[in-house]
Amino acid sequence: MKERLIFALDVDSFEQAQSWVRLLHDEVGMFKVGKQLFTRCGPSVVQMIRDEGGEVFLDLKYHDIPNTVAKASIEAARMGVKMFNVHALGGRTMMKCMVDEVVHASQLEGFDLPIMLGVTILTSSSESDLHEVGILKPVVEMVPLLAALAQKSGLNGVVASAQELALIRAACGNDFVVVTPGVRPATASQDDQQRVMTPVEAIRAGSNYLVVGRPISKAADPAAAAREIVAQMSQGVM
Ligand code: C5P
Repeated sequence: MKERLIFALDVDSFEQAQSWVRLLHDEVGMFKVGKQLFTRCGPSVVQMIRDEGGEVFLDLKYHDIPNTVAKASIEAARMGVKMFNVHALGGRTMMKCMVDEVVHASQLEGFDLPIMLGVTILTSSSESDLHEVGILKPVVEMVPLLAALAQKSGLNGVVASAQELALIRAACGNDFVVVTPGVRPATASQDDQQRVMTPVEAIRAGSNYLVVGRPISKAADPAAAAREIVAQMSQGVM
């Protein structure tokens, strides 16, 4: 179960990242490196996590012309990340070109194929934000539409709110990977997350991987908090 817990490494220095990885690499399955840490530290932070025995979810949400996304994704895969993501709003041609080129490069060069994920609609976007950019369908239609498009384009799964799991499972079936942030143990603060689920609920609802940051990083004993989340996740398995 611990392999299914991803710690969000939301810090801004190599040293802080390294101390979190040293503290938590036995307690979680993966470390999520986002735009801030990667822009600050670059590939050396990915290498450090791997050298410490951890796995990496590179959360850079690529969205660009197909060739640019494909080439960036090959570089991500070459670094040995276990997971990375692109915006499904980039469209079928972008996603399909990316998948084809990463698969081709992995066969040619022998690196492991990462789990390739799409991001559907950011949970921070309200329906009025979406209307302003011309997306007129409601979020409850857009999320399964984009998840199904990601699946048809060859992606392995999506990152989505746990609240959207049922819609995505209905559209994409049970073999599609769903990674869910916004998870809070019943006793933890919600922080700025609006719609949260507990670890038990998220696993029961069909989440494959849970992304958790502050409930671990702000705990008095972060390693114990991570172990407790893993224990709660185990209770969600039926
Ligand atoms: O601290 P917390 O558990 O809220 O961190 C969740 C992590 O997941 C953060 O890195 C956040 O940026 C990310 N995330 C999210 N909601 C999304 C997508 C990503 O909270 N819809």
